[in-house]
Amino acid sequence: MGPLQIKDILQTAPENQSVVVKGWVRTKRESKNAIFIALNDGSTINNIQVVAEPGQFSAELLLTVTTGSCLKVTGELIASQGAGQTVEVKISDIEVYGTADPEEYPLQPKKHSLEFLREIAHLRPRTNTFSAILRIRHALAFAVHQYFNDKGFFYLHTPVITASDAEGAGEMFRVTTLDLNNLPRTEEGAINFKEDFFGREANLTVSGQLEGELGAMALSKIYTFGPTFRAENSNTTRHLAEFWMIEPEMAFFELEDNMDLAEDFVKKVITYALINCKDDLNFLQNRLTEEEKNKPQNERSLPLLEKLAFVVDNPFERLTYTEAIDILLKSKPHKEGKFQFPVGWGIDLSSEHERYLVEKHFKKPVILTNYPREIKSFYMKLDEDGKTVRAMDVLFPGIGEIIGGSQREESYEKLLGRVKEIGIDPENLWWYLETRKFGTAPHSGFGLGFERLVQFVTGMGNIRDVIPFPRYPKSAEF
Ligand code: 4AD
Ligand code: MG
Repeated sequence: MGPLQIKDILQTAPENQSVVVKGWVRTKRESKNAIFIALNDGSTINNIQVVAEPGQFSAELLLTVTTGSCLKVTGELIASQGAGQTVEVKISDIEVYGTADPEEYPLQPKKHSLEFLREIAHLRPRTNTFSAILRIRHALAFAVHQYFNDKGFFYLHTPVITASDAEGAGEMFRVTTLDLNNLPRTEEGAINFKEDFFGREANLTVSGQLEGELGAMALSKIYTFGPTFRAENSNTTRHLAEFWMIEPEMAFFELEDNMDLAEDFVKKVITYALINCKDDLNFLQNRLTEEEKNKPQNERSLPLLEKLAFVVDNPFERLTYTEAIDILLKSKPHKEGKFQFPVGWGIDLSSEHERYLVEKHFKKPVILTNYPREIKSFYMKLDEDGKTVRAMDVLFPGIGEIIGGSQREESYEKLLGRVKEIGIDPENLWWYLETRKFGTAPHSGFGLGFERLVQFVTGMGNIRDVIPFPRYPKSAEF
C-alpha cells in the first residue's frame, strides 16, 4: 500500500536493507566527500538524509535536484555517520519526479515571513511551520471525535445551507441561484425569493446549534463538527469568515454540567496533542522562543509546552459576569483610564477586558457565566432574576473567547417571548419552537471555535495561519 513514509523509515533499525524514499528536497549540500540531500514527505517534521558520492551522478542530473524538487530515491538504510540523525540512506538510484527551478520556486531554505507565506498558501504546507500546524490540526480533530465517541455522543451532520440565523446576528452569506443581473420581482417590487432555488431566502449557516438541539431531543447527546460562516467584517487575528466549529448539545445537562464538560473536553484534546505531537510542538516552541528572544525577560510568554501543561493541570476559574464587572471596575487599568472601552454592568466585554481577567487577574482560563440577557442570544435560558441568562463563555490566555455556550430555554412560552422580543418571525423557527411543545427537556450545549483551539495549541498569533486556506475579507484566492 504505497511507499514507506519517512516517519517510519526514521524509526527503522539500519541493517543495510534496501529502501525507497519519496519526498521533496528541503536542502542539498555538497562537500568534498559526499552530497547530502534532506528529504521530507510531510509525515513528520524530521527530514531523512540521503547521501550520494561525488561523481556518482551526472552534473546534469544533480542540477535538477534543488530545494522543492520531488525525488524517488532508492538505496541502503545505514546508521548515520553524522550527528542529528540515527539513520540515513546511501543512494544507489535517483529518479526526479519534478524539478523546481530555483529562479522561480519561492520557498528557499531561509526564513520567510508569515505574511509572505499567506500569499503562497498553495505551497506553505511544505514549510516546517505549516506542516507542523497541519499535523497538529489533524491530531486535534481526531481527538475531538475520539473524545465524544468515548463519552457516548453521536456525530450529527447539520446542514450547511439554512434559512434561519441561529445567532440572530445577521452576519450571513446568502446562497442563491437567482440571476443577479435580472432579479425576479414581486408586484411590490421586492426580490421574489419564491423563484429562488429553495423557494425562500437561504444562507450559509453560522452555527449548527439549532439543528443540534433537535438531535439532542432524540439521541440525548450529540455533537456537530463542521464549517460555519460569518460575514462579519472583522479583520482581526481571531476571526475568519469560514471556520470550523464543534458543537455538543446534551439533553438533561444544566449549566454546571455544561461547564464541567467544556473544561474536561478542552483539557483532554490538548492532552492528546501533548502526547501525540511532541516533535511538532517542540519545533513550534523553539520557533516561538526564537521569536521572543529580543523581548525583555518579563514580557516573554511561557514556553509553549509549559503553557499547555499549565492549562491541562489547573482548574479553570469560574465566576459570574457580574463578579467580573466588579473586578474590572476595581482594576488598575480602569481606574487609570487605560482601557479603550468603558466598563459597566451591561457592556459586551471587549477583548481588552477579557484579556485583563485571564492574563493579568486570574492568570489562567476563566469561565464567565450569567451574562445580561440583552447581549446574548435568544435561545439562552433566563435566570430567575429575569435580567441574566444561563450563558457561559470560556476565555483563554492569548485567545480570548474560545468557547461560547449556555443552558437553553426549554419553556415554550418564554422562548416564544424571546423570539418575538428580538424581532425574529416565529414562523421561520416553527420547527425549533416545536421541540419545546413536544417533550421538552432541560438541555445545554456549547460551541468551540476549532481554529482558536489550534491557535492556542500551536501558539500561532494569527488565526489565518492555522487553517490551510483562510477566508477573510477580500481574500478567497486559494
Ligand atoms: O459564541 P458563538 O457565536 O456561539 C455559537 O455560535 C453558539 N451557537 C454555540 C453553541 O452554543 N452551540 O461561537 C462559538 C465559538 C466562539 O467562542 C469562537 O471560539 C468561535 O466559535 N468563533 C469564531 N472563530 C473564528 N472566526 C470567527 N469569526 C468566529 N466566531 C466565533
Ligand atoms: Mg460568543
